[in-house]
Amino acid sequence: MRFEIFTLFPAMFEGVLTESILKRAQARGLLHVALHNIRDYATDKHQVTDEPPYGGGGGMLMKVEPIVRAVESVLGGESAPVILTTPQGQRFDQRMAADFATYPRLAILCGRYEGVDERVRRLVVTHEVSLGDYVLTGGELAAMVMLDAIARHLPNVLGNADSAPNDSHSSGLLEGAHYTRPPEFRGLRVPAVLLEGDHGAVARWRRQSALRRTWLRRPDLLLNAALSEAERYALGQLAADWSRGERAEDAD
Ligand code: ADE
Repeated sequence: MRFEIFTLFPAMFEGVLTESILKRAQARGLLHVALHNIRDYATDKHQVTDEPPYGGGGGMLMKVEPIVRAVESVLGGESAPVILTTPQGQRFDQRMAADFATYPRLAILCGRYEGVDERVRRLVVTHEVSLGDYVLTGGELAAMVMLDAIARHLPNVLGNADSAPNDSHSSGLLEGAHYTRPPEFRGLRVPAVLLEGDHGAVARWRRQSALRRTWLRRPDLLLNAALSEAERYALGQLAADWSRGERAEDAD
């Protein structure tokens, strides 16, 4: 998959792209990331990319011409989603990450300052996406988060083939508890079922742990999760225990 990133600050991406999984994915040819400096597409002597808004109001806006020139010359008429990072966009989530991962090519336009001239939206943007209900100093951090979350869905990017489907949110539930060695630390023991080698029992325990954690922390997710009859019953038991004051522990 190829990412075209349009930014005024390409150096911000350096650390993220030169370490760990994203570095490996690029080295193996699974992921290509091209950074395009919008300033290179400003044609005036001072390469101006921002101006105060018409009508006043303070702050600066990203100008339309350099952005449109940059996006059109890089995409060259090929159709690809062009995401604008903005707190006014649709909230980014795991499903959106998986959907974007199905495209061979994706452009991300990093918003800055008070935003972009409205004509940018009209002329080149296909999706407006927000990380959440807070305001960042610029869209670069949002673009890095999206790139990372999307790249994890590409085939062979993650070492273990079944890591992504087990992630929190991929199944509609949060992930449950995990343990590694040692079996006991400061009196805290790993649940016996995880040490006994019964894979079916381990899978049931994990599902139960995910269900309990989701119920405690993000009950809203349960509305859309695919649950079996037995799991619905187990949730009912949790709720009944809870209302009787027998509070389920978050840690398993
Ligand atoms: N730019 C500034 N804040 C943002 C946010 N919350 N999401 C995406 N882009 C942003």
